[in-house]
Amino acid sequence: MKKIFNSFKTSKRYSIKWNNYFEIYEKLLSKFKNKKITIVEVGVGDGGSLYMWKSFFGKKSRVIGIELNPDSKKLKNDGFEIFIGDQSDKEFWRKFYKQVGKIDVLIDDGGHTNIQQITTLVESFKFIKDDGLIIIEDTHTSFMKKKGFGNPSNYSLINFSSSLIENIHRRNPNLLKKMNDFSKKIYSIEYFDSIVAFKINSKLCKKTKNLENNTLLRNFFIDFRNKRIDNNSSKKNNLFNNLIKSKISKRSIPYKLYEKLIIKKYYKLTKK
Ligand SMILES: C[S@@+](CC[C@H](N)C(=O)[O-])C[C@H]1O[C@@H](n2cnc3c(N)ncnc32)[C@H](O)[C@@H]1O
Repeated sequence: MKKIFNSFKTSKRYSIKWNNYFEIYEKLLSKFKNKKITIVEVGVGDGGSLYMWKSFFGKKSRVIGIELNPDSKKLKNDGFEIFIGDQSDKEFWRKFYKQVGKIDVLIDDGGHTNIQQITTLVESFKFIKDDGLIIIEDTHTSFMKKKGFGNPSNYSLINFSSSLIENIHRRNPNLLKKMNDFSKKIYSIEYFDSIVAFKINSKLCKKTKNLENNTLLRNFFIDFRNKRIDNNSSKKNNLFNNLIKSKISKRSIPYKLYEKLIIKKYYKLTKK
């Protein structure tokens, strides 16, 4: 089987990608190989990655490049469709999808700023076919101050995607929140080092419901989630913890404060 890394190495023009991306592409994109799909890459550069995509996805694929630099038009002679425009321009995207129609895969390897990544995502997600993908590359810029990225900030792609995580969870009725356009289209979000993949599937984005089996057995177990637990077997230095666990209601404010203290310690591990 032709691996995408081979397609990268044998591409006849210059391309630059982080070495961990190839494994991720393989995992996310193999299902589209040799299918009649439309794949769009933002950020054409010298054109090396367009050749890589064509070689990987096969002859039936339609490969489109979007680029700010008008020189990229020369790649039209090599059989690629090239659109010159600014990925942070909402109007550009409106015209683009009007002309191109719905697509299967969008890969953003453009300028990697917050406005570019977020505009590309928001102006595109409605135009991705079911079972398609938006892959945003170089999302480490969400944590980079230098080179003008000005992050971490509330306006980074990664922070924006946490709002989308909330939107996905609106499909659960316990949230008592109306589903918005994101809730209805984004099925899941997958995070890697420097890549975030948004999986689009409106058919799977339905309001969820709880299902029970064997309902006659429902009352034959006791749910312990809010029970106070007297754990005598614990060590002496856990006296304080035992006291809280056995004497204080799990739904009380002091118990919630106790839990926050523990979670704060776990958070510290992520800041090391
Ligand atoms: C890292 S290069 C792309 C490399 C190419 N994908 C590859 O793998 O070889 C980034 C490209 O994004 C283009 N770019 C930067 N800002 C852009 C914008 N706002 N809209 C469209 N393209 C942009 C740059 O001109 C540059 O060619």
